Amino acid sequence: MTEPSIAPDLQRLFEPVTIAGLPMRNRIVMAPMTRRKAPDDRVPDDAIARYYARRAAHGVGLILTEGTHIEPRHAPDSENVPGIWNDNHVAGWKTVTERVHDAGGLIGCQLWHTGRLAMDPIAPSAIPALDREGHPRTTPREMTRLDIEALIAQFAHAAACAQRAGFDCVEIHGAHGYILHTFMDPEANQRDDDFGGSFDSRMRAPVEVTKAVRAEVGEGYPVWYRLSQFRVDDRTTLPYPDPEHLGLFTGALKAAGVDVLHASTRDMTEPAFGGSPKTLAGWTREVSGLPTVAVGGATLGAWSGNDLAKPHDPAPLARMIEDEEADLVAVGRALIANPDWCQKVRAGDWERLRPYSGDLLETLEDEGFND
Ligand SMILES: Cc1cc2nc3c(=O)[nH]c(=O)nc-3n(C[C@H](O)[C@H](O)[C@H](O)COP(=O)(O)O)c2cc1C
Repeated sequence: MTEPSIAPDLQRLFEPVTIAGLPMRNRIVMAPMTRRKAPDDRVPDDAIARYYARRAAHGVGLILTEGTHIEPRHAPDSENVPGIWNDNHVAGWKTVTERVHDAGGLIGCQLWHTGRLAMDPIAPSAIPALDREGHPRTTPREMTRLDIEALIAQFAHAAACAQRAGFDCVEIHGAHGYILHTFMDPEANQRDDDFGGSFDSRMRAPVEVTKAVRAEVGEGYPVWYRLSQFRVDDRTTLPYPDPEHLGLFTGALKAAGVDVLHASTRDMTEPAFGGSPKTLAGWTREVSGLPTVAVGGATLGAWSGNDLAKPHDPAPLARMIEDEEADLVAVGRALIANPDWCQKVRAGDWERLRPYSGDLLETLEDEGFND
């Protein structure tokens, strides 16, 4: 199939680029998005393989899977989220990675432990997350040192499983109020041992997880790390109060073996700290010196839950690359609504993008697309 020519202002978005040794056909990443459509044994099936392969066939550079649980007991926040801790998961995901590769794409696995948002919650401290109405959820059990050691080993084991399943990289989920984020957050982490207290101690668990993942997958295998300021349970404490702290943390992650950082925001163009227009991705890239992914609001209004979100033009994405605020841009909801997002945008046809609404989450099938 001959591709239509690229709209001139979007050239940078669609140029090939090598990131942490991975040759990508363009700078577009599919953002990790939970779908809760795996069978009860959490082994991904054919519908999941087709869902991802369809996006690869329509040109996405690299897909990040939905958050994938690293162990069965405390990681899951719900049923039907896929897992990556046993041989059945490896076999199921192998089919997915092969289908994506056959379609010309790349795919990484997002490793997810939901911590105090889990069905059986554990956390650095026995402090509950809040529900949508602002009421405390179930109080998590405070983790012992043994729990922390187990967590580190579970992330490393899951990374090894992902590597065996043929994934091109792994992404450690360190964002959004889940377990690694809560270690960083001064309100959620009130430990007085060497995993809490000072900033250095708060970052110990995420850094140890990263070191263990790196040791398990070996040199040369790309390890990504996703971070955010916000938590899904919406409190206002910031894990990274200023660029200096962001630099301390990302520098420690880099030394521990992270290759790529993924700065999660609801609007990738928003300034991250006072006194500068630089975005969270821009700061992350600058202070770490690592390739960085920007995400939030790609061709759609900034995140507003599951409300109808109408498409807008992709110019801000191209500007993120032009202005050296990011190396890659991740697209979330717009890629659920439009498996062919890359083709429409590449051709300058963004006005034909379908709007996003939460109803689209009901099925993995995409009307009008045949595999
Ligand atoms: C349905 C849905 C599920 C999501 N699940 C995850 C997830 O599993 N892991 C994660 O890091 N972010 C998750 N996110 C956040 C997205 O990766 C992305 O950062 C967010 O949607 C903003 O990008 P967008 O404005 O392009 O949609 C989810 C978002 C949506 C809409």
